Amino acid sequence: MPVIELKNIARSYKNGQVFIEALKDIDLSIEEGDFVSIMGPSGSGKSTMLNLIGCLDKPTSGTYEIAGKRVEKMGDSELADIRNQLLGFVFQSFHLLPDLNALENVELPLIYRGMGGNERRKRSIEALKSVGLDERIHHRPSQLSGGEQQRVAIARAIVGDPKVLLADEPTGALDSKTSENIMAIFQELNDHRGITIVQVTHEKSVAEYGYRIFHLLDGKIERVEDVVK
Ligand SMILES: Nc1ncnc2c1ncn2[C@@H]1O[C@H](COP(=O)(O)OP(=O)(O)O)[C@@H](O)[C@H]1O
Ligand SMILES: [Mg+2]
Repeated sequence: MPVIELKNIARSYKNGQVFIEALKDIDLSIEEGDFVSIMGPSGSGKSTMLNLIGCLDKPTSGTYEIAGKRVEKMGDSELADIRNQLLGFVFQSFHLLPDLNALENVELPLIYRGMGGNERRKRSIEALKSVGLDERIHHRPSQLSGGEQQRVAIARAIVGDPKVLLADEPTGALDSKTSENIMAIFQELNDHRGITIVQVTHEKSVAEYGYRIFHLLDGKIERVEDVVK
């Protein structure tokens, strides 16, 4: 059973008189343990697609199942539960809270789950270690490099043991060497922990860490490329 299955999905926006079909005719199925990349020109619908997959948004039409659960009919609190239990998110600009240190940022999703302090800290330190950040965990984001901040964001995304990691341009703000380090972490999470990964990227070299590349054009999947490893 696929962990993510979109059938005949469309997402449109209406801005005054202007009607924008950000996504149309989207069929896609992602198995557990897969690693897929989404590429396409600016405005082709990449972020809209990732937001739908991430249950941050709902389709205008079509059906979406995640881990066997129908998403398109869910209410906001059910969607929030799905995000907290099944999904982890990584963004181009890290989205860390500036007033919290690295450890406190990583603990946040576990606080939302109501986990007690000791267990929370233990798991958060483990998550930080698994991304190679065992030092500097009491530093705030502004005291960390971009690559370190993204590692904290990855630790926060995986601390709750998600089935799927979603990343929108995770290396978009990083130099190429740091980007490789971040992708090595993604590969490790996919290979050794079996976490399914869906990432949006502009960079071919980053996209090729996945097994498949979905090329979007004008809101449609124009082509699916199998990456030759
Ligand atoms: N909230 C929104 N309201 C109106 N139009 C939107 C909204 N979000 C995205 N769009 C439009 O949908 C299309 C796809 O956007 P997006 O998914 O952000 O593309 P990409 O991430 O590939 O650059 C664009 O034409 C964009 O302007
Ligand atoms: Mg985008």
